[in-house]
Amino acid sequence: MNILLIGSGGREHAIAVKIAQSSRCEKLYIAPGNAGTAAVGQNVALDSSDFEAVARFVLDHRIEMVVVGPEAPLVAGIADYFAGQSSLSHVMVIGPARHGAMLEGSKDYAKAFMTRHKIPTAQYRTFTAETLAEGERFLESLQPPYVLKADGLAAGKGVLIESDLATAKADLHEMLGGKFGQASASVVIEEYLSGIELSVFVLTDGQHYLLLPSAKDYKRIGEGDTGLNTGGMGSISPVPFADKEFMKKVEDRIVKPTVRGLREEKIPYHGFIFVGLMCCDGDPYVIEYNVRMGDPETESVFPRIKSDVVELFEHCAHGTLDQCSLSIDSRTAACVMMVAGGYPGNYEKGKPIDLGTDAPDVQVFHCGTKTDADGRLLTNGGRVICTTALATSLPEALLKSYNRAADINWDGKYNRRDIGQDLLKLLVG
Ligand code: AMP
Ligand code: GLY
Repeated sequence: MNILLIGSGGREHAIAVKIAQSSRCEKLYIAPGNAGTAAVGQNVALDSSDFEAVARFVLDHRIEMVVVGPEAPLVAGIADYFAGQSSLSHVMVIGPARHGAMLEGSKDYAKAFMTRHKIPTAQYRTFTAETLAEGERFLESLQPPYVLKADGLAAGKGVLIESDLATAKADLHEMLGGKFGQASASVVIEEYLSGIELSVFVLTDGQHYLLLPSAKDYKRIGEGDTGLNTGGMGSISPVPFADKEFMKKVEDRIVKPTVRGLREEKIPYHGFIFVGLMCCDGDPYVIEYNVRMGDPETESVFPRIKSDVVELFEHCAHGTLDQCSLSIDSRTAACVMMVAGGYPGNYEKGKPIDLGTDAPDVQVFHCGTKTDADGRLLTNGGRVICTTALATSLPEALLKSYNRAADINWDGKYNRRDIGQDLLKLLVG
C-alpha cells in the first residue's frame, strides 16, 4: 500500500526507515520530511494543518495509511476529519481522534482521567483566573518545589518548576494572565515528584495494546542535566533500571488501567501512547501522557523493533492488535543528538554538513536538515542530526554512537558528552 507519514524530525526519519523496510509498503511519502527522509521515501510539501490539502493528496496518490508523527495535527482533529468523510473513511489513520488526543492536549483532562481510573500520578488541582486566590492558597499548602503546568499545548515550554513560593505565585498570575496564551487559561498545580524519569511507549487499538521498549531521554542542553530545556539531547533504550519487576508495575498500575479507561469511556484510540513516568523509590507515577512517540526516544526505540511496523499499524487500525506479538532486538540503543550552536536559544540555519563515513551498527537520523538546489546538505533547525548505535552493552553502544557523532561536522555543532552516564553509574551500583 501507499503510506503517508506526517512530520519532519528525527522521530519521523526513524519511523520512515522502519516503514520503508516493510514488504507491505509500496510507496512512502513524508510530509514535509527532511533530507534524511528523502532518502527513504518521497518528501511532499504539504501543510499538515490543512486537512483538505492532506485529503486531496491522499486521494490523488491512492494512500491507504496515514501515520501521524507529531501531536499538533492529532489535537487539531486530523483523525476525526478522515473518519468523517465517506471518501476517506477507508484510510487507516495511526494516531488518535481529537477526544483521545486530549490526553496530551489538556493536562487537566489527563489528570482527571488518571484520577477516574486510579492511575498513580502527583496530587493536583486546576485553577483559572476566577479561582486565582484559591490557587495561591493551594500553593501555600504544598512543599517546594512547586510545579505549575499550562493546561494546553505550549510547545514543550508550559511547565514551570520553582523552588520559591513567591516566584511560583508570580508564575501563576502570569500564566493565568496569558503567558502561554489560551494554553495557560487553566493551570494545573501539582505535587513535585522526586525520582528518575523514563518513558514507556504503548501501541493501542483502544482495546488491546503492545508494550514497546522503554527509553530515557535527556532534556536539558547542558551536561549533568543543566541549562535550558530542549526537545531532547539523546536517548537510551532500554532503561536498565526498568527491569521485569518495574515494567510489571507499569503495566498493571498504568498501562492496563489506561487502556481499560479508554475502552470504558468509549474513547476510540488507534495509535501510540507515550507515558512519561517518574520512578519514585521503585514505583512508577505518571508525569504526563503524550499521544505520539517521543523525539529522540523514537530514534532509540524504533531501531530495536524487529517486527514489521506496517503490519502492526494495520492491526492497530483494525482493532486486532491482540493477534500480534512484538519482536524486539535485545541490544541497547544509544542515541546522541547534535544541535546548532545557540540552540535552544537563537541559532543559525543553512550551515553545510559533513556527514562523515558510515559505521557498522550505527544509524544516522536527520532532524533539522535540508538539501539545497545544488544538492548540498544543510542544517535547517535546532536539533540537526543524531546517531543511534546498537550494541550488546550500554558502554559499547555509547562508544559507537559517540564515535560516529564525532565524524559528523558543521560550523557550530554541539552535543552533550554525558548521554547515558547516569544509567552507567546506576549499573555499576
Ligand atoms: P512535561 O511537559 O509534562 O513533560 O513536563 C516537563 C518536565 O517537567 C518533565 O519532563 C519533568 O522533568 C518535569 N515535571 C513535570 N511534572 C513534574 C512533577 N510533578 N514532579 C517533578 N517533575 C515534574
Ligand atoms: N522527548 C520528549 C518528547 O518527545 O516530548
